[in-house]
Amino acid sequence: MKYGFFDDAKREYVIETPFTPLPWINYLGSNEFFGLISNTGGGYNFYRDAKLRRLTRYRYNNVPRDTGGRMFYITDDSETWSPTFLPAKTPLDAYKCRHGMGYTVFESEMNGLSSELTCFVPVKDNCEINRLILKNTTGEKKEVGIVSALEFCLWNAADDGTNFQRNYNIGEVEVEDQVIYHKTEYRERRNHYAFYSVNQKTAGFDTDLDTFLGKFNNYEIPEVVEEGKCRNTIAHGWSPMACHRLEYTLQPGEETEIIFILGYIEVAKEDKWDGPAAGGVINKKPAKELISRYNTSKAVADELTALAEYWDKLLGKYTAETGDEKLDRMVNIWNQYQCMITFNMSRSASYYESGQGRGMGFRDSCQDLLGFVHIVPERARERILDIAAIQFENGGAWHQYQPLTKRGNADAGMGFNDDPLWLIGCTYAYISETGDYSILDELVPFENKEGSEKPLFDHLRASFNYTLNNLGPHNLPLIGRADWNDCLNLNCFSDEPGESFQTCANIESEAESVFIAGMFVFYGKQFAELCIKRGLNDEADKAIESVKQMNETILKHGWDGEWFLRAYDSNGDKVGSSECNDGKILIEPQGMCVMAGVGIESGQAKKALESAKKYLTFEYGTCLVYPAYKEYHLNLGEISSYPPGYKENGSVFCHNNPWLSIAETMVGNADEAFEIYRRTCPAYIEDISDIHRTEPYVYSQTIAGKEAATPGEAKNSWLTGTAAWTYVNISQYLLGIQPELDGIRLKPCLPGKYNNVKLKRTFRGAVYNITIVRSDDKGIWVDGNKIDSDVIPAASSGSTVNVECRI
Ligand code: GLC
Ligand code: GLC
Repeated sequence: MKYGFFDDAKREYVIETPFTPLPWINYLGSNEFFGLISNTGGGYNFYRDAKLRRLTRYRYNNVPRDTGGRMFYITDDSETWSPTFLPAKTPLDAYKCRHGMGYTVFESEMNGLSSELTCFVPVKDNCEINRLILKNTTGEKKEVGIVSALEFCLWNAADDGTNFQRNYNIGEVEVEDQVIYHKTEYRERRNHYAFYSVNQKTAGFDTDLDTFLGKFNNYEIPEVVEEGKCRNTIAHGWSPMACHRLEYTLQPGEETEIIFILGYIEVAKEDKWDGPAAGGVINKKPAKELISRYNTSKAVADELTALAEYWDKLLGKYTAETGDEKLDRMVNIWNQYQCMITFNMSRSASYYESGQGRGMGFRDSCQDLLGFVHIVPERARERILDIAAIQFENGGAWHQYQPLTKRGNADAGMGFNDDPLWLIGCTYAYISETGDYSILDELVPFENKEGSEKPLFDHLRASFNYTLNNLGPHNLPLIGRADWNDCLNLNCFSDEPGESFQTCANIESEAESVFIAGMFVFYGKQFAELCIKRGLNDEADKAIESVKQMNETILKHGWDGEWFLRAYDSNGDKVGSSECNDGKILIEPQGMCVMAGVGIESGQAKKALESAKKYLTFEYGTCLVYPAYKEYHLNLGEISSYPPGYKENGSVFCHNNPWLSIAETMVGNADEAFEIYRRTCPAYIEDISDIHRTEPYVYSQTIAGKEAATPGEAKNSWLTGTAAWTYVNISQYLLGIQPELDGIRLKPCLPGKYNNVKLKRTFRGAVYNITIVRSDDKGIWVDGNKIDSDVIPAASSGSTVNVECRI
């Protein structure tokens, strides 16, 4: 069942009912100011950091789930409704929510009054604009009352949700003209405030939540709305909020346009006050300037155009016409859009990530980068340098860092032994994309320590050596606290409720990971290529030798007979083996080892992929483990804490499915490679939105697996490494444009029905128009000339290259 449809021409998903299985959200904001917005107007705003600079309040875990956000109440003929359906919940005559690139529009209608509410964040200002257009479509005049409302968060979202003994006393606001200013904590240590404005004359306002709601009311029918009259309250503590009331007489056919702005203002310390600080009147000049930039219809319309152009530019670097509209919409629109959202949000703020917990993960950020490096290469460059700065001199790394401080986060720990290798992967991807080797010479500190700066290349070397310096009894890499699978905790034995599975005390252990071994082969080759480019031929030879040895070790000690083993635990027992009762086979090494080329010549690769398909794959994707763990295994950690079929314990953990798909392309199996792609791809499973439940335009982290009670049900939408890896898979391996150090390797691997594919790829400033057709006369023609390899050398910036690829 579907709840909407894709409007590809507008690059929108159009939701036709507020009754989606879960809130279906979108993200507003491109640089520093952001908003999450659901299809009923829910969500919240923040400036840069969702924990420390939250403007509006949102209650996760609320009942009902998605209250708050941008609230509008329209009263006409004594009936009150919301153009976003919530909070008023009055059934509407018409409702549509259009989620587009950086904006969301609600089109609704009630009793002959039509409304269009457009919400977006301008590309270069720190505010969210809500433009409400109301039109009387009847032949009679209408008396209309409009109430807008939002609830302020007292900046630090974690403190706001816990420290009530203080927070109920500190809330402060000012009101001047049509603007409500939120200035809690401004008098002492904050140099920022928020405001909520409207560009038309108001008939009243409120800023005290309790008064606004009334004694036993809730957001569905606040007392102020019910009575059609504001109280003009000034909040002193409790919960400051902002509400405007506007009143109109709309003649038949008459339309009115109202612009609301929620803004964030930072003021230099010496300019904080309008007059002496003791007077407590804040300096509103910068707010007024911001408001004046957007107070006309034309200014807002122009800004919407600027936003569309901004996204045109970002999404234009890779476009496909494949003859399959579902594929086209993922490649051209939604997959790339999601990659950009993970660039902005990492794992901080979604409807599953509270914005208070996880900072920037080392491995997550390196992998996210694979999905946006072609879109914003300059920003990818900065990101790599930030990540490398939390590495230790021995090559290990903090597992996370905070975006505001860019310092490693001791709470999340270190010793996740896959982390260092991802740094090689993202740097290699950056240089392949840009040809910019200068990044390798950038001086980057270790552990952010002044004086420890070394060229980035030394960091990569430290990453490479870290694996070699941490080998276990079988010469496989030690896993440390965990590898990519954060929940396979072979060194941390936790039986204490509430304790972190991942950072509890380590036991002495020599547990080893076949997955990291596969990664070492994959990224070790890239490291060797970079060594050659730096003229370090001996080092390259040595690296290749180590990679070769690791390859052999995997085939010897990492092979279980029909698939790759997952690991050896701290007792030296096998994990992911036919000898195990549960957890006989896990997906990660099947994908990663074959991607790295391990076992391709010997036939083990094919065998492993067949086994993965046989035991792990079902209609909704390929599960992480089979059989799922039925009891808690102290020696395996968090993985076995999840009920069978959920999360790491046997769900379809979407992030690793593309590895398997890429692996299938490595053995030339185009049909299964594409099937793996299709099974979890949002556009292809839109029809089962009632089962899948999360948004049909973006990937989720996890889909309940075949052993779950609710197979096919997804959770954790939006902020997942799935976005980057599915994009790498479709753009580089299935459609086949692989950026490499010396150019583009063109190696499509597509099922037969794709027989006339057109791709446009901007690469190092040149535009490649690529056509893929079927032919017996196979090969690649560049500007009419057949080339004798599948690598197209990088063309000069500004040129256009026409390529025909016959497969
Ligand atoms: C989550 C984490 C990621 C990890 C994955 C598997 O997505 O963010 O770092 O690799 O789970 O455990
Ligand atoms: C939990 C999650 C896992 C995630 C990790 C992040 O363990 O189950 O998916 O990677 O937290 O640290």
